[in-house]
Amino acid sequence: MNGEFRTAAVIGAGTIGLSWTVLFAGHGLTVRVSDPRPDLAEAVRSTVDAFAPHLARQGVDVAGIADRIVLADDVAEAVRDADVVQENGPEDVEFKKNLFATLVAEAPAHALLLSSSSAIPATAFTGDLADASRVLIGHPFNPPHLIPLVEVVPGARTSEEAVTAAVTFYRFVGRTPVVERKEIPGFVGNRLQNALSREAIYLVEQGVVTPEDLDEVVTNSLGIRWATVGPFLGSHLGGGPGGYRHMAEHIGRSMKKMWAGLGTPSQSPEEQERLIEAVESAYGSSTYSELAEARDRRQIAVLSALDSTREENR
Ligand SMILES: NC(=O)c1ccc[n+]([C@@H]2O[C@H](COP(=O)([O-])OP(=O)(O)OC[C@H]3O[C@@H](n4cnc5c(N)ncnc54)[C@H](O)[C@@H]3O)[C@@H](O)[C@H]2O)c1
Repeated sequence: MNGEFRTAAVIGAGTIGLSWTVLFAGHGLTVRVSDPRPDLAEAVRSTVDAFAPHLARQGVDVAGIADRIVLADDVAEAVRDADVVQENGPEDVEFKKNLFATLVAEAPAHALLLSSSSAIPATAFTGDLADASRVLIGHPFNPPHLIPLVEVVPGARTSEEAVTAAVTFYRFVGRTPVVERKEIPGFVGNRLQNALSREAIYLVEQGVVTPEDLDEVVTNSLGIRWATVGPFLGSHLGGGPGGYRHMAEHIGRSMKKMWAGLGTPSQSPEEQERLIEAVESAYGSSTYSELAEARDRRQIAVLSALDSTREENR
């Protein structure tokens, strides 16, 4: 690993791979894409059209972006000259075992081999590899060209050099990598998301709020707060001048009592069907593209606003 990133290979060009492709090309990398889907060329073209303006609004120079994206005939051709490989294939351990054996055999020896996997840790698919030292998880949040976080999670056989190189790479493409030192299921971001989702489903199941009202509660309170301060700094400030200590020793005690009363949704087939229908009736009159475009527009607005405060702080 030489720490210089000129050529990336993107393996698997679905929801996540296409977004990575545009991000990497936007940061000047040549990106070689492999996916057996028959509509690959059209999918890449339409994603560039849709996402390049997002990058431009974040200050990335997108000139020539489409010219830097090359479609490869197969995985071996995609990774032949790669400095870094980002895998985004199906979430299936056997698939990842086979694919990473090919990557280790076909990619240059210095190439960093990253997997977007949400739930399969690197240790689960690297046991039989000749060289697992440069294989690790780089788990993004959808869509990775907008949401900055990448969870960098080494496996049992990943070298420290590869962890450092992954952090350097993700910073190079404008992301915010966070290294996580234990392979816990769901990593950190999805565990937090699931803790909140479990309570959200419970509250709707219990008839406390509708799905739209629950979304209103989150986007008008926690969402705004958490885009600016995380839960720990939020609590440190919530404790006033006495800080986190005051929060933990006073309000924290009654909060802990509340933990015991947090809900577990029943999610029986009937309850699940009721919830699906409630969400569909709330949002089903808009198409997927309309909702996704509105989400992306708002997320870009939040990112731009946060960027402008960073400039003010300089
Ligand atoms: N969707 C998300 O919100 C999200 C978020 C973070 C991480 N991830 C992870 O990213 C990975 C991809 O998820 P996705 O949602 O993009 O899935 P997806 O189903 O949209 O895309 C998977 C792609 O892999 C392709 N593929 C299948 N076999 C292949 C092969 N042999 N070589 C190359 N490509 C092949 C498929 O044609 C498909 O286009 C998964 O590991 C998932 O856990 C997904």
